[in-house]
Amino acid sequence: MLKGKKIVLGVTGGIAVYKAVDLVSKLRKEGAEVRVVMTESAAKFVTPLTFKEISGNAVAVSMWAEAQEFNVEHIALADWADFMVVAPATANILAKAANGIADDLLSTVLLASKTPIILCPAMNCQMYDNPITQNNLKKLADYGFIIMQPGTGRLACGTSGKGRLPEPAEIIAFTKNFIAHKEGDLQGLKILVTAAGTREPIDPVRFVGNRSSGKMGYAVAQVASERGADVVLVSGPSSLIPPANVEVVNVETTREMMNAVLAKYDDMDIVIKAAAVADYCPHEVAEQKIKKATDDALKIVLDKNPDILKKLGELKTKQFLVGFAAETQNLLSNAAEKIKKKNLDMIVANDVTVAGAGFNCDTNVVKFLFPNGEVKSLEKMSKLEVAQALLNEVKAARNK
Ligand code: CTP
Repeated sequence: MLKGKKIVLGVTGGIAVYKAVDLVSKLRKEGAEVRVVMTESAAKFVTPLTFKEISGNAVAVSMWAEAQEFNVEHIALADWADFMVVAPATANILAKAANGIADDLLSTVLLASKTPIILCPAMNCQMYDNPITQNNLKKLADYGFIIMQPGTGRLACGTSGKGRLPEPAEIIAFTKNFIAHKEGDLQGLKILVTAAGTREPIDPVRFVGNRSSGKMGYAVAQVASERGADVVLVSGPSSLIPPANVEVVNVETTREMMNAVLAKYDDMDIVIKAAAVADYCPHEVAEQKIKKATDDALKIVLDKNPDILKKLGELKTKQFLVGFAAETQNLLSNAAEKIKKKNLDMIVANDVTVAGAGFNCDTNVVKFLFPNGEVKSLEKMSKLEVAQALLNEVKAARNK
């Protein structure tokens, strides 16, 4: 994915500069061409000669150095790049870029650039947490800079906190994800994915829920985003980290999920409902924790929740609607019934009793069913592979 890409790597003066050397080496191994621009402070940590040897290109530091092969170097570098990465990006360069200050070569290249710029902040955690830095980051994100979150851990200054430059391999993975998103085959499509199980409170400490981990829905959201779609992930409670470049709406109950989905529905091209939705909710939610009663049984009356997907099927205009059917028996007939009842364009059916399928595992064994009765059975595969196959089917069916 990085093969033949022209990357300007901005390197600013932090202790993490040594990682940037490895980053250049790894980017070149991936087939990218890298030109390094260093600030004067960065050149105090590692010499430009090191970057020259590793990148195989002249290294630019000063605005006033004798021109090498560029006429107006800052403009030429900005124009040459397919995209830029600044790693490590100190609080100082963030402040300059956020405010349009161009007082050295790197800040001038950043201001002159029309290409996408990925910033990898790295600094002492107190500098990172400082509202000034946080405001600058917010401003930069609003201006369209792509910001990679720093890692948390032990920092060079001896303290622990957020501010560590991610490892070169992580920066490369982030960069690839960004490129995939920019060049993917689902660009321009708005996809809403629901994931994980909803929870219905019984009292302040207990709830009715299910075993869904959210892995299938999160995998669909990740792959859709990597393939260029604009993704909204409406998620019930889950311990998973949401994928990068995805708008996340966190909900708890079925009604909250319904409201979140309906608020976005009109705007969506595709809706994929991987969530395990609680069909019932307690008739009454106790305000205080329910104490153990003296009689043996505790009876909770449950009311029926709305069927979100059925409602979406009724309101459907342009949207391509994909449901999931988790079954323990009569898989095909139950799933086919749900396609009709909910006015779906496709359903992903899985028998959750099969080994390697269903809740809380990394693999799944699914069948795709369509309104015309067509059934496609997939082998056992990872949830990410299921997500790829699912999106391929959606794309093909929409193009029919
Ligand atoms: N679904 C929904 N709202 C509900 C119940 C389910 O939107 N109240 C969606 C799920 O997200 C899934 C599909 O409907 O995409 C099928 O869910 P499933 O639980 O398999 O089926 P149900 O319609 O709930 O029927 P049953 O539980 O009787 O199998």
